[in-house]
Order: sequence, then structure tokens, then C-alpha cells
Amino acid sequence: MANFDQFKKNWLRPFLFYGNNPISLIGGALTTASALVLIGFWVVEFLGHGGSNNPYLGIIFDLILPGLFVLGLVLIPIGILWRRSRLKAAGELPSIYPEIDLGDPVFRHGIEFVVIATFINFVIVGTASYRGVAYMDTPNFCGQACHVMAPEWGAYPVSSHAGVACTECHIAAGIPGFVHAKVNGTKQLLMVVAHDYPRPIMAGDKLPPARTTCLNCHNADKEIGDKLLVETSYGDDEKNSMTRTLVLLHVGGRDQFGHLSGIHGAHLGHIEYISTDSNHQTIPWVGKTNDDGSVTEFVSADAKGPVAGEKHIMDCIDCHNRAAHSFDTPEKALNKDMAEGSPSASLPFVHKQGLVLMKASYTSQQEAASKITAGLESYYRSQYPQIWNGQRAQIDQAAKTLVAIYSRNVFPFMKVTWGTHPNNIGHNDYPGCFRCHDGNHNAKNGKSVTSVTNDCSVCHNLLAVDEPNPKQLADLGMH
Ligand code: HEC
Ligand code: HEC
Ligand code: HEC
Ligand code: HEC
Ligand code: HEC
Repeated sequence: MANFDQFKKNWLRPFLFYGNNPISLIGGALTTASALVLIGFWVVEFLGHGGSNNPYLGIIFDLILPGLFVLGLVLIPIGILWRRSRLKAAGELPSIYPEIDLGDPVFRHGIEFVVIATFINFVIVGTASYRGVAYMDTPNFCGQACHVMAPEWGAYPVSSHAGVACTECHIAAGIPGFVHAKVNGTKQLLMVVAHDYPRPIMAGDKLPPARTTCLNCHNADKEIGDKLLVETSYGDDEKNSMTRTLVLLHVGGRDQFGHLSGIHGAHLGHIEYISTDSNHQTIPWVGKTNDDGSVTEFVSADAKGPVAGEKHIMDCIDCHNRAAHSFDTPEKALNKDMAEGSPSASLPFVHKQGLVLMKASYTSQQEAASKITAGLESYYRSQYPQIWNGQRAQIDQAAKTLVAIYSRNVFPFMKVTWGTHPNNIGHNDYPGCFRCHDGNHNAKNGKSVTSVTNDCSVCHNLLAVDEPNPKQLADLGMH
């Protein structure tokens, strides 16, 4: 008891006496308010109701709130020293410090001030943090707050996943994913602040496995059956001749009898591979686990010596790697837009000229926009004056479309150009399926040699290839 009385007399009373000044009181209110908000969020997070695992939440919970907490703590002694030196200068230092007495109006007002200020701070800090959390979970934050995401942000709104938040695919559900994302997010933020980030940004091995992301929404086994792909292409001749390719893809899946078939059925869960580059474009070794548990190893004839390295289990992302932000080849993009009406196929050689202009190299999107537009205009002005005079609106529209295609796909400041981000779904533009199905990955089963097949018909029926008027389309009533 004696000890406590000493403590009260020598420490607590002077502390409260000097602490009763605006700076220290505000400091105290700030510290208690940010502590309350932090504890509140920790409890919510612990109970698993956080609802957010955004990597940049670290900015609020690891930087801003603790910063306010420390700021408040620092303000308290500053106020104390300030009051003490003022009283000292005025010669008013008390020889004995007043008793702690709730009846004392000065002391009571101090406490009331702290309680009210804490409450106000709590509301402000709490609302700001809550809004910050909500904001950081929006694709707007991921895609726009940081200009290095411009390429993905441009491709995202036109994908089938435009309504799926970036975090749904980029951050694994659960606590390890959360911690990993937090550490990574903070690292990436520092890289951006220091202007020291990779250009282009490649996903490499950084994506969480599909079972922690895609499969929260998709069913791995869903029977999809065959899917008809209709591709419209335009030629490089004066008339931009249109042709059609019809591919009936055997996507397959697991049917109602549990039988696996087709492209989906062939891979799920039992194929592993080793790649020699971080973007998984070169795959010298593939292993398939058979029904009896044995593994058939397919090794590329190009591999020199035995292949070693980390084994990856093949999942959705090994084929659907561009599900949410797909970049086109200039040919595919132009064909798609021409099929929708712009550039108009009535402009002579617009397909050929458009490709030349889009494939040229420019230092920025602004430069590309002005040079593509000027290039197309001068082409028609000099080569087809009649068209230039008669179809000016279509030429303007064509230039706009070409610029839009370029701006969605090429980002000179990030060193993202045509083909930087390969799409693994086919085999014509990028290695894709043929990373393994090149007919060159062989297994030695006793005496016979088998290969990962590249028989066209196991994957699709080519109903028509570059035909002007495929009969099948007419049969289906399509044009
Ligand atoms: C449907 C799932 C999905 C969504 C939604 C998604 N991504 Fe991705 N993202 C991926 C996959 C899969 C890759 C890996 C691409 C690869 O390996 O080629 C990737 C790769 C990336 C990369 C690495 C560079 C690149 O283009 O390959 C960046 C940057 C990126 N995403 C940003 C974003 C941003 C920003 C958003 C939200 C606006 C977003 N992503 C939304 C699935 C998604
Ligand atoms: C939050 C839910 C959600 C997540 C996570 C998600 N998807 Fe989807 N996905 C959808 C919805 C909804 C559609 C249908 C969109 C439509 O038809 O317009 C879709 C469509 C697709 C399609 C068909 C359309 C296309 O673009 O070809 C593919 C393929 C696909 N998703 C693959 C993936 C892959 C791979 C991942 C993981 C990297 C993933 N999805 C993650 C909800 C999701
Ligand atoms: C071996 C490559 C491969 C793997 C692995 C794969 N897919 Fe596919 N998937 C395809 C191909 C090829 C298509 C048809 C072409 C297309 O839609 O672009 C397709 C089509 C789809 C579609 C679109 C169906 C439609 O009606 O448009 C969805 C959805 C889909 N896959 C989801 C998944 C999910 C989820 C996984 C992982 C469990 C997965 N796929 C794994 C190759 C693959
Ligand atoms: C990482 C390597 C790899 C990639 C990439 C890959 N596959 Fe396969 N695929 C295999 C292996 C291994 C088999 C099993 C071969 C066997 O059993 O002989 C297989 C089997 C198949 C089969 C069944 C063949 C049969 O004889 O029944 C189809 C269909 C198929 N793949 C389609 C595709 C498509 C479409 C793509 C691209 C979207 C693709 N694969 C990409 C490794 C791969
Ligand atoms: C391992 C599976 C697989 C094999 C084997 C395969 N293809 Fe394909 N092919 C695909 C897939 C998947 C697509 C669809 C790509 C997409 O969705 O855009 C495709 C698309 C095509 C297209 C459409 C045009 C285009 O630009 O996409 C043509 C043409 C084609 N394949 C020709 C062939 C020929 C010829 C062979 C035999 C030498 C062959 N394919 C073997 C999987 C395969």
C-alpha cells in the first residue's frame, strides 16, 4: 500500500496534473481511439468475419492505425513537457501536486474531454478504416490506383470475369493465403514507390492453385460436352475477303455415369509437369498417373539429359491462364471487331493496312494514336481519293477502332506488346496445348513408344477451315 501511495504521489499526480493540457488530452484520445479500432478489427478478423483479404489492407492496419496510435503516445509527453516548461517559466510550478479528486472540476473536465474526443476520434478513424477496407477490395483499387496494372485493367472489363474481384483469383482463400498476400502486397507497394518493378509484370509461379480460387465458383467436373467455335477472318486482299473456320471442341467433363471424357476429362487431377521457365511455356517432362497408380513419363525429344525441377499439378490455370484479362493478337482483335462492323470491310485493304499500322512500333499509346490515325487517313487520301471523299466517317471510325485495339493490348511504358502474355488455350498463336501435344513428348512403355497425342481429332473436329460460306453454318441457320 505504501508503495502505491508513493507512486501516486510522485508519479500519477504530477502526470495527471501536467497531462491536463490540450496536446496531451488529444494525444490520449487519439491513442485510445486507434487502439479500439485496431482491437475491433482484430476481433472481427479472428472470428473470420473480416470479409476481406486484400494485400494492401496492410496500409491501414500495419501502417496508418499503428501510426496514429504512436502519434497519440508521442503527443502525451510533448504536452506534458510543454505545460511544465510554461509553468516553470511563469514560476508557477506547484510544490505539492493536487490530489486525484473526481470532484475537482478541472480534473473532471479533462476526463470528459478525453472521453468525448475518444468517441469522436473512434467514429472518424473507424469510418475511415472501414471505407478504406471496402475500397481496397474493389477492382478499381487493384486496377487503377496503381498504373502498373493498366494492361490487366484494360482487358478485364471485356472479359467474362468483369464482375469477379481481382482478389478472388489472386489471393487463396484462408489464412495462409491472407498472410502471403499481405507480405507480397507490401513488397509490391514498396517496389512501385521506389519505381523498381519488373516490366513487363509476369505472373510466373505466383498464382494460387485453382482449387483455392477458381473452384470456389466453378465445378471441376462439370460436363460441358462439345463446344462450337466460329471464327471469322478477313483477308489481306483489296476486298478484305471474309472466311469462316468452324471448330467443334471436345471439352467433355464427367458425365452422369461418372465417366470422364474430352479435354477436361483427360487432365484433371492426374497430370504433372516440369517447366524450365517461370511462365511454364517450355515443358520438357510430363507425368500421367494411371488408374492403377503407375506413372507414365513423357519426355520431350528436345530435352538434353534427365529432366529435374519442381513438379506442378496441372489445373485450370495451365490452360485458362487468360480467363480475366486476355490480350489478343492484332489479327484476332481486328477480325473480331471487323465482324462487328468496324473497321468496315467496305474500305479497300483496311485489314492489311490496319495490321501494318497496329504492328509498327511506337514509344507511347499517345504516339500510336496519332500515327495510326494519320497513317490510315493518308493511305486513303493518296491511294483511294474517292473513298476518302465518300466514306470519311467510316475511315474515322476505323481509325478509332484500330487505336482502341492497340490501347487495349500494347502498353509501351510497361513493355507489354503483342504476344508478351501468351494464351495457353489453343495452339495456333502460342505454344498452348502443343507445349505437350507436339507429338514429340514420348514415353517408353516396354518395347513400344507412345507420345502425348497430336491427333487433331481427339481435341476437335475441324468442320470448316477458312471457307467463305461453310455449309454447316447455313444448316444451323447462322450467317
Ligand atoms: C478469373 C480470375 C482472375 C481475375 C478476376 C483477375 N485475374 Fe489477374 N491473373 C489471373 C491468372 C490466371 C493470371 C496468370 C496469367 C498467366 O499465367 O499467364 C493472372 C495474372 C495477372 C497479372 C500478371 C501479368 C499478366 O497479365 O499475366 C496481373 C498484374 C494481374 N493478373 C492483375 C489483375 C488485376 C488488377 C485484376 C482485377 C482488375 C485481376 N488480375 C483479375 C486470373 C485472374
Ligand atoms: C467469383 C466467382 C468466379 C471465380 C473465382 C472464377 N470464375 Fe470463371 N466464371 C465465373 C462466372 C460467373 C462465369 C460466367 C460468366 C459469363 O458467362 O458471362 C465464368 C466463366 C468462366 C469461363 C468461361 C468463359 C470464358 O472466358 O471462356 C472460364 C473458362 C472460366 N470462368 C474459368 C475460370 C478460371 C480458370 C478461374 C480461376 C483462375 C475462374 N474462372 C474463377 C465466376 C468465377
Ligand atoms: C487441358 C486444358 C484445360 C484445362 C486443364 C481446363 N480447361 Fe476448361 N476449357 C478448355 C478448352 C480448350 C475449352 C473450350 C475452349 C474455350 O472455351 O475457350 C474449355 C472451356 C471451359 C469453360 C467454358 C465452357 C463454355 O460453355 O463456354 C469453362 C467454364 C471451363 N473450361 C472451366 C474450367 C475449369 C473450372 C477448369 C479447372 C477445373 C478447367 N476448365 C480446366 C481447356 C481446359
Ligand atoms: C502439361 C502438358 C499438357 C498440356 C499443356 C496439355 N495436355 Fe492434353 N494431355 C496431356 C497428357 C500427358 C495426356 C495423356 C496422354 C496419354 O494418356 O497418352 C493428355 C491427354 C489429352 C487428351 C486425351 C487424348 C486421348 O487420347 O484421349 C486431350 C483431348 C487433350 N489432352 C487435350 C488438350 C488440350 C485441348 C490442351 C490445350 C488447351 C492440352 N491438352 C494441353 C498433357 C498436356
Ligand atoms: C491437344 C488438343 C489439340 C490438338 C491435338 C489439335 N488442336 Fe487445333 N485447337 C485446339 C484448341 C483447344 C483450339 C481452340 C482454341 C481457342 O479456343 O481459341 C484449336 C483450334 C484450332 C483451329 C482454329 C483456328 C484458330 O486460330 O484457333 C485450327 C484451324 C486448328 N485448331 C487446327 C488443328 C490441326 C490441323 C490439328 C492437327 C494437326 C490440330 N488443330 C490439333 C486443340 C488442339
